[in-house]
Amino acid sequence: MSQRLGVYPDPASLAGGAASVFVGSFKSAVAERGIFTAVLSGGSTPLALYRLLAAEHKDLDWAKAHLFWGDERCGSPGDAGSNYNGANAALISKIEIPPENIHRIKGELAPDEAARLYEKELTGFFGVEESTPPPFDLVLLGMGADGHTLSLFPGTRALDEKERLVVPNFAGKLDAWRVTLTFRAIERAKKTVFLVAGAGKAAVLKEVLEGKDYPAGRVKGQEVVWLADKDAAFLIKE
Ligand code: 6PG
Repeated sequence: MSQRLGVYPDPASLAGGAASVFVGSFKSAVAERGIFTAVLSGGSTPLALYRLLAAEHKDLDWAKAHLFWGDERCGSPGDAGSNYNGANAALISKIEIPPENIHRIKGELAPDEAARLYEKELTGFFGVEESTPPPFDLVLLGMGADGHTLSLFPGTRALDEKERLVVPNFAGKLDAWRVTLTFRAIERAKKTVFLVAGAGKAAVLKEVLEGKDYPAGRVKGQEVVWLADKDAAFLIKE
């Protein structure tokens, strides 16, 4: 598994770098197999990327793209905090992509029901057996200042899930349930890209890249890439 870090001067150029990776992965997947599958990250960092894709890459053959989510908050898809809602407002509502290509986690259902349903949607779509990691072309991830990624928070049960691809996970510090992909679900991804911005992430980014144990550092994939802005990377020695 290879890991590498790309540093950009500011959040806007970080979004530009991420867009190049996204478009490159999209085009090579479509050229190879006529389809592109991507897991979108929640949170605020990737929104600049989603807006840039909508603004500058409408010309992609979005009918060949299938979009999934890495995690979702429990509640309605119209909630302000919904990861689906964020991506829909920034990207999906602005491109020509068939509704059936949008595979959202149904956060409005009970957490375990939403998780089991989503796992069935993943294994059905990719034609794999239950609990077999799907071969996503691209997985986009963020990281919290506590080193969490997806909704895999430090000290929570979902970190130890070895079988299921999607589980409910209670985030004690947020006093909230989440539905999240597990590490297993993304371990076969062709390319996994972390987007990290802001000085608030600098300490944890340095420790993760130095190998200190945080959930984000446990992510496995064929190729794991870290894209950060200068503020998030300022503690990293060249
Ligand atoms: C979520 C994400 C979560 C996010 C990090 C970073 O649902 O919030 O899955 O893992 O990527 O919390 O969030 P920011 O990009 O907002 O800092």
